[in-house]
Amino acid sequence: MGRFEGATVLITGAAGGLGRGAAKGFAAEGARLVLSDLNEEALADLAGSLEAETAILAGNIADESLSESLVRLAVEKFGRLDVAVNNAGIVQSFVRLPQDAWEQAPPLFVSVQRI
Ligand SMILES: NC(=O)c1ccc[n+]([C@@H]2O[C@H](COP(=O)([O-])OP(=O)(O)OC[C@H]3O[C@@H](n4cnc5c(N)ncnc54)[C@H](O)[C@@H]3O)[C@@H](O)[C@H]2O)c1
Repeated sequence: MGRFEGATVLITGAAGGLGRGAAKGFAAEGARLVLSDLNEEALADLAGSLEAETAILAGNIADESLSESLVRLAVEKFGRLDVAVNNAGIVQSFVRLPQDAWEQAPPLFVSVQRI
C-alpha cells in the first residue's frame, strides 16, 4: 500500500520538470491527483500517462480564482484535499536581497503543504 493511498494531492506547474516528477512520485504512492498548469496539452498528456485517478484544470496560477477552482475541484471530485505542491512560479530577483534578509528568511522556491 502506497504512503499516500486515499490522499488527494494538488500540484501546480504539473507539466514541468519538478511538477511532473512530483506527480509521478505521488501517483506511485497511491495518491489521487489534481493537476494544473498553463500548458493544457502537456497537462492532458501527463494525466494520460499516470496510473492514478486524476483531475486536471489548466490556467494561470497568478489568477486567484484558479486556486479556488482547484480546491473546489479536489473536494468535488475526491472529497478532500490533503497536500498542495505549490510549484508553479517564477523566481524573482532574489539575488538582490540584502544578506541579513537572506539569512533571516531565504526565499521559498517550492512549498509543499500538508493540509
Ligand atoms: N529546477 C530547479 O532546479 C529549481 C530550483 C529552484 C526552484 N525551482 C522552482 O521550482 C518550480 C518548478 O521548476 P521546474 O524546473 O519544474 O520548472 P519548469 O519550467 O520545468 O516547469 C514549470 C511549469 O510551470 C508552468 N507554469 C509557469 N508559470 C505558470 C503559471 N503562471 N501558472 C501555471 N503554470 C505555470 C509551466 O507551464 C511549466 O510546465 C519553479 O517555481 C522554479 O522556479 C526550480
